[in-house]
Formats: sequence, structure tokens, C-alpha cells
Amino acid sequence: MKTLSQPTLLILSLSLLFLTLHFPPTQAKFAGLGIHRPNSPKQARQLAASAAHDDESGDFVTFYYNQTLDHFNYKPESYTTFRQRYIVNVKHWGGADTNAPILVYFGPEDRIDYAWTDIGFLTENAPHFKALLLYIEHRYYGESVPFGSWEKASRNATSLGYLNSAQAIADYAAIILHVKQTYSAKNSPVIVVGGSYGGMLASWFRLKYPHVAIGALASSAPILYFDGVAPGDGYYSVVTKDFKVTSNRSNTKSVIISVSHAHFRYICNVTS
Ligand SMILES: *[C@@H]1O[C@H](CO)[C@@H](O)[C@H](O)[C@H]1NC(C)=O
Ligand SMILES: *[C@@H]1O[C@H](CO)[C@@H](O)[C@H](O)[C@H]1NC(C)=O
Ligand SMILES: *[C@@H]1O[C@H](CO)[C@@H](O)[C@H](O)[C@H]1NC(C)=O
Repeated sequence: MKTLSQPTLLILSLSLLFLTLHFPPTQAKFAGLGIHRPNSPKQARQLAASAAHDDESGDFVTFYYNQTLDHFNYKPESYTTFRQRYIVNVKHWGGADTNAPILVYFGPEDRIDYAWTDIGFLTENAPHFKALLLYIEHRYYGESVPFGSWEKASRNATSLGYLNSAQAIADYAAIILHVKQTYSAKNSPVIVVGGSYGGMLASWFRLKYPHVAIGALASSAPILYFDGVAPGDGYYSVVTKDFKVTSNRSNTKSVIISVSHAHFRYICNVTS
């Protein structure tokens, strides 16, 4: 068997992209001119209370943003909008006048439902950092589908062409800025988080929008897993090696932990 190359090992290990993590002190509070904008956690909670609640605790609140279909062209249809779903949790937020961060989960190629129960990194860190939590659904998934329905959106190459990673991270930038404005949190530091493809988006976001996010956490993200960069069979080589090593052991836990979550169920079935 071919020895695993450095990039492959790099790709399949947890990729941390914490860059220049510093929390700038926030400037003056929003000079409210009678405009209702939440300036404190209490006000933020009041805002949340007026919106729809999805979970039993009522801490995760769903909103919709009128998202631009095409961020990179000036054609008439570029300005079409669609409803993009995002979820906010301000339960632990320290407020805009503190250094409390905004932790943003980038929805990957899936609906965003129940992301909050699965993504422990956000909920477990929120109390410690007094963070505002934001979860954004990826365009063309779940309730965030342009053209009115998936059937219409996937009808032809033109309508499906707006489904790409560049548009997706531009969506995320727009919603993060919108949420910062809504909560008067212009100076709150933003850390973006994602796993797998979502982690690739998080790392690319940090590169493309360094003025929006001061850090990115990319978990199990095959950031460099492209033709000509990493061997095409890199993923399978690693999985095969895990199976080989583990097949000699009675305890199969190690293989389950070491492989991609995408194959988690499959591995469990095979090894149990
Ligand atoms: C979003 O778009 C809908 C439908 O066009 C419109 O009714 C609504 O007012 C818009 N919301 C905002 C905040 O612009
Ligand atoms: C492609 O699909 C979209 C959405 O369903 C539709 O508006 C558009 O007219 C279609 N274009 C062509 C060339 O069929
Ligand atoms: C598994 O065990 C056999 C017998 O002890 C040994 O010959 C083989 O090299 C082991 N395979 C791996 C991948 O460790």
C-alpha cells in the first residue's frame, strides 16, 4: 500500500484555522434615535421573544433574510431574492457593549434543522464566551430554496448554477452583517465554524472575508482535497488503513473515531 502523503494526513485530521484571535473592545453604544435596536442582552431577548420559536427552551429563534440570488452579476435576475433561514440564540450573549463574540455555524449541504443540538462547539462554548449563536442554512437546502421550490430551482443549468460555494459564503457574509446590524453588534468579533464541506466554507470565508470574521474553525474539512493537490484515492487509503489495523483488534472504537462522519453509520454496521 502506498504511504500516505502529508497533504492527505493534513486533510483528514482536524483542521484548525484560528487566525489572529483578538477581541477588539467595542466602541460606543448605538446612538438610538428612537429606532428600536437591541443594545443589551435584555433587549435582544425581547426581540427574540417576538419571533417564532423552534425548540422547547425557546432559546433558538428562527428568522428569514431576503437573500440576493446572485452576488456577482448585474443581470436583472441577479437581484431576485429568496428567503434564507437563520437561527439566533442570545441566551448567553454578553451584549454589544462587551467583547462577547458571535459564533456562526455555516450550514453545509443539508437543512439546518436541529443543527443546534448536534453542534456542541457552539452551545458548549456560548456560556463561557458569553457568545451570541447564529446558525445559517445553506442556499438550495431546507427552507432556503430560490425560485420557490427545489423542483423549479433544479429545473435547468441556469437556475441550478447559483448553487455554488462562492455564492454560499457571500450569503453568509450578508446575513452576518445583517445580524450585527440588528443587534447593534458592529464591533463584536465573529468566529465562523463548520464541519466537512461546511468547514471548507468556514476556512474560505476567513480568507475571502477577513473583515467579517476574525477566525474560522474547520472541523474534518477536506480543504485541499482537490485533483492535483491531494491523491484522488487519499480518503479511501486512509479508511482502508483504519479497517486493516482495526480488524486485528477487538475494540473497534478507534476506527469509528478516525473516519469521516459521512461514513460513520456504514462503519458502525460493518464493525459491530
Ligand atoms: C422580504 O421579501 C418579502 C417578499 O418580497 C417582503 O414581503 C418583505 O417585506 C421583505 N422583507 C424585508 C425585511 O425586506
Ligand atoms: C430555468 O428555470 C428557472 C426556474 O425554474 C426558470 O425561471 C427559467 O425560465 C428556466 N430557464 C430556461 C432557459 O428554461
Ligand atoms: C493482523 O494480524 C496478523 C496476525 O497477527 C498480522 O500478520 C498482520 O500483519 C496484522 N495486520 C495489521 C494491519 O496489523
